[in-house]
This record gives sequence, C-alpha cells and structure tokens, in this order.
Amino acid sequence: EKGNYRHFMQKEIFEQPTVVAQTLGSYLRQADNSVALPQLDFDISEIRRLTIVACGTSYYAGMVAKYWFEHFARVPVDIDVASEFRYREPVLEDGGLALFISQSGETADTLAALRHCKANGQVIGVVVNVPTSTMAREADLLLPTHAGPEIGVASTKAFTCQLAVLAALAAHMAVKKGLMNREEEQSVVSHLLETPACLNAALDHDDDIASMAHLIAPARDVLYLGRGQDYPLAMEGALKLKEISYIHAEGYASGEMKHGPIALIDDEVPVVVIAPSGPLFEKTVSNMEEVRARGGKIVLISDAEGLEEAGEGCMATIEMPKVHPLIAPLVYAIPVQLLAYHVAVVKGTDVDQPRNLAKSVTVE
Ligand code: F6R
Repeated sequence: EKGNYRHFMQKEIFEQPTVVAQTLGSYLRQADNSVALPQLDFDISEIRRLTIVACGTSYYAGMVAKYWFEHFARVPVDIDVASEFRYREPVLEDGGLALFISQSGETADTLAALRHCKANGQVIGVVVNVPTSTMAREADLLLPTHAGPEIGVASTKAFTCQLAVLAALAAHMAVKKGLMNREEEQSVVSHLLETPACLNAALDHDDDIASMAHLIAPARDVLYLGRGQDYPLAMEGALKLKEISYIHAEGYASGEMKHGPIALIDDEVPVVVIAPSGPLFEKTVSNMEEVRARGGKIVLISDAEGLEEAGEGCMATIEMPKVHPLIAPLVYAIPVQLLAYHVAVVKGTDVDQPRNLAKSVTVE
C-alpha cells in the first residue's frame, strides 16, 4: 500500500498536489474561476460571528483560516482548542456559525464542543475528511476534504486539504457579503487553482531537506518562528517535529521572541524561520538578526527574493517558489512536514506510529 514510499507519512506528503487539487475541484469552478459551494440552507451573508473549534493540526488550519475570514469576509472570528472551548463560557449569540475542523470527525473534545454550540443556537459547519463520521452526521453544513484515508498518525494531507476548503469558504462568504467583486473572485480562485503546481515545486526540494536533516537531528530544542498567517505554520512545524522525532520544539510568533524565548537561544538551538518575502519580511529579518547575534543557527524557509536578502549566514535555507500570499500556508506546509519527516528518519523513530499517540482521539 505504501508503493515506493518508505512510510505512509511520506506517501501522504507526496499525495498533496493530487488531493488538494481534488478538494479544490469540488469547491471551485475552473471554467469561470468562481467559488462553487454546495447549496446552503442558511444565508451566509447574515452570519455575524464565526466560532472555530478544533484540536492539534486541525486547530492550526483554523488559525490560518481566521486570517482569511477576517481579511476577505470581515467577520469576527473566535477560535479555540476544543478542550478549552468546552470548559469556558463562550458567549454564543444567535446568528453565529460554528465551524469544527477534524480529519477523523470523531475527536471527543471537538464533538462535545459541536454539541454545545448546537444546543446554543449556532449553525454547525464541519470540515471533515471522513464523510461518514459522527461530526459529518451532526452538521448543518458538511464541507468534506477529499484527502483520502490518512494512515500516518501525524496529519499532513488532511491539513492542506482543510486549508483548501477553508479558503474557498472564506472567499464564498466574502462574495455573498458583497465584499469581493467578480474580478477579485476570479483572481482569488485562479491563485487557489495554482496551488497544486506550487506544491509540486515545493516537493522538488525533498532531497535538499533530507540532506539537512542531520543538522537538526542532534538538537534538544528547536524553535519555529512565523508571522501573520505563517505563525500557525510555525506551531504546526513544531508539533510535527515533536510528535515524530521526539525533539522538543516550540512555535512562536516572530515578534514574541524578544518577550522571553530569546533567552533560550545559543548555538545549540536551531531556529526555523518561515518567512515568504512580502510586507512583513523586513520585520522577520530583524528578528533573525536578534537570533543570530546570540549565536542561534537559522534555517530560513523563504522564496528566492527572501533568500537573496536574508539567506546569508543561515545554517541552511530551503527555497520555496514565489507564491501568492493566500496560498503560502499551503505551500510552506510542505517543507515543514518534510523537515520533521527526515529528522525522524535520521533519528530512526517510528514515523507512522509515534509513541503515545493514536490516530483518532475519542477519549477526552
Ligand atoms: C498532529 C495530529 C493531531 C490531530 C488532532 C485532531 O499531527 O495528527 O494533532 O490533528 O488529534 O484530530 P482530528 O483532526 O481527527 O480531529
């Protein structure tokens, strides 16, 4: 079943161009570059507030999507991990849409949060990879990801497919609210449709990433930094690394470095910086300088322009294609996944079945 791949995780990373294309294909119409969501039985332009709830990697997909819902659809977004959401007292007013993101559709805390929101008058939307799952059955709006079965315990292709669905939903909401005109819709959709080709270009760097894995494998701690919509990716990178290679890792917002974590930096701590070129790049470069001044070893993941400007003096660099900011989180997910994968392979851990973890967390 693994074909030519050594692990399911590796196979699933490489499936992403195909499954993201499949998923986008069911939410976008290529013929006229428009968003094509299933018929909704509520008016999405009337939604006054969005609540997003998920766990783990699915939660990070939700964090990326928060940027899109705010940017395109100008809707207030509350997001939380399910295990916290259910035990606080979230204020849920009528007219809210609650979105639950889950590969399995069975995660106990996420399901409990869904039922709580339903009982409190929210419209229930779910983004799930298993269309027969409990969450799918209890939803008002079912938005499936078409990633196919995900076997590796570490989630990879489900994540990028979740992002694909969420981007389409944010664009749809913006169109319905009159915030995105036809021309803008065409532009957004055409950029989304470029994703599979960009994922392939990112996967072309597999060998480079494999050959730098030995630089990370001996580390005891690794920091990941990102800004804006790349901040959740920093946390996703850290989660992937810790769960399969058992190296302690933390994801931080680049600007938070100087508020504490910089105290950890010395020449033993690799810092992975996720930073496509763009308006926020300069700020991240100055955060990198702070790390470098303390002997920190940087792995910079950026495009040619970013590497040209800031690649010098890094321990390693990973070059991504130059992509539209909207799709950057999908594309930059690839090097983050591959880096964790190859470090785990160097360390010889059980990549597909990491210790202490289960694929579907149906207990609280
Ligand atoms: C990380 C990972 C977990 C899951 C989390 C939620 O690689 O796989 O963090 O993302 O357990 O699972 P689902 O998406 O099935 O609700």
